[in-house]
Amino acid sequence: MVERARIGGQSEVVVGPGVLTEGLATELAALGLKGRVFVFSDDRVFPLHGERLLAAIRADGREASARVFPAGEPTKSLDTAFGAYDWLVERRAERGDAILALGGGVVGDLSGFVAATYLRGLPLVHAPTTLLAQIDSSIGGKAAVNHPRGKNLVGAFYPARLVLVDPRALLTLPRRDLASGWAEVVKTAMILDPEMLDLLVEQSRALLEPDLDPTTEVIRRSIQHKVDVVAEDPTERGRRVILNYGHTIAHALESATGYGQLLHGEAVAIGMRGAARISCRLGLLAESDAARQGVAVAAFGLPSRVRDLGVEPPPSEAVLGAMLLDKKVQERAVRWVLLEGIGRTTVRSDVPASLVREVVEELL
Ligand SMILES: NC(=O)c1ccc[n+]([C@@H]2O[C@H](COP(=O)([O-])OP(=O)(O)OC[C@H]3O[C@@H](n4cnc5c(N)ncnc54)[C@H](O)[C@@H]3O)[C@@H](O)[C@H]2O)c1
Ligand SMILES: [Zn+2]
Repeated sequence: MVERARIGGQSEVVVGPGVLTEGLATELAALGLKGRVFVFSDDRVFPLHGERLLAAIRADGREASARVFPAGEPTKSLDTAFGAYDWLVERRAERGDAILALGGGVVGDLSGFVAATYLRGLPLVHAPTTLLAQIDSSIGGKAAVNHPRGKNLVGAFYPARLVLVDPRALLTLPRRDLASGWAEVVKTAMILDPEMLDLLVEQSRALLEPDLDPTTEVIRRSIQHKVDVVAEDPTERGRRVILNYGHTIAHALESATGYGQLLHGEAVAIGMRGAARISCRLGLLAESDAARQGVAVAAFGLPSRVRDLGVEPPPSEAVLGAMLLDKKVQERAVRWVLLEGIGRTTVRSDVPASLVREVVEELL
């Protein structure tokens, strides 16, 4: 069997090259999952990884079947969820059967939502295939679909029973998606782990290949950080807010440019630059630490401004307006996750609007 790391917490997380194909049936049995497995995937991922996964689930005679959705954010909708319910009803899915999400965050969030609600909860297994899903969206139990009026508006906290993180799946991931996922790891390093920041810079070329050894190690470390933060605050009422470093501006940029123009991690890279600048101008963060973040972002070929991506920058008014609609706004004040050093966060609600405007203009 392949070498695998286990990380406890609200879900059992298993990390290692090959975990999606070797020993999968054993993992399911070890959790006491006895029923059928309904695999949800998308039409890019399934042709690449689906058949091998089904074979691995069926290795000990278990029944498995798959439902494949169109790839892309529009799949994260109530309509798609409704179609999935119909499909489960036709198959007479029972509480002992499991849903396994094979794909990126879109498939993962949709599957989590369906698993949370169908029969008031079917066991959920995540098999994340993007870097973002491996280190972020499959960990922490957040599931959601989008509403026409807002992203992730309808959802639940519903942790997977098992998360199978196979870095080998990343070998087929487009490079732009891979780099975008590394932005989220740079974020984790900036808020929690200065040593990992150095490691990321040193290893960036190997991580962009991706070479499996260093990639597995960094993924494992990044997941451990998220698991620790989530354990302290599973329902996002306190400490978990630090994971939103860079995200106030990122979400506003994604919304103001129309979703899909910037990948999420690209928006986070730009948003982190904004948050670091605000931190510096408030006298919280040393310029040299902001510069270290800049080096890491650049090492992954990530943008520092919207125009770096060849995208028409939105008007700054649109970005500032979108910020006020963000979920992190409480009583109309934006809560900023800022830095006092690498690995040291602080949350502030008193950042002057004029400073925010100035910084946003620099990021476009
Ligand atoms: N639940 C959470 O905590 C959480 C956290 C962050 C993001 N999200 C959500 O995650 C979603 C974004 O996730 P994403 O970036 O993974 O996007 P995604 O699921 O759309 O995947 C990106 C693209 O890569 C393709 N793909 C996936 N794996 C592949 C592979 N191994 N090889 C080749 N192609 C592959 C997909 O088909 C898709 O076209 C958003 O909807 C966001 O809201 C959720
Ligand atoms: Zn994010």
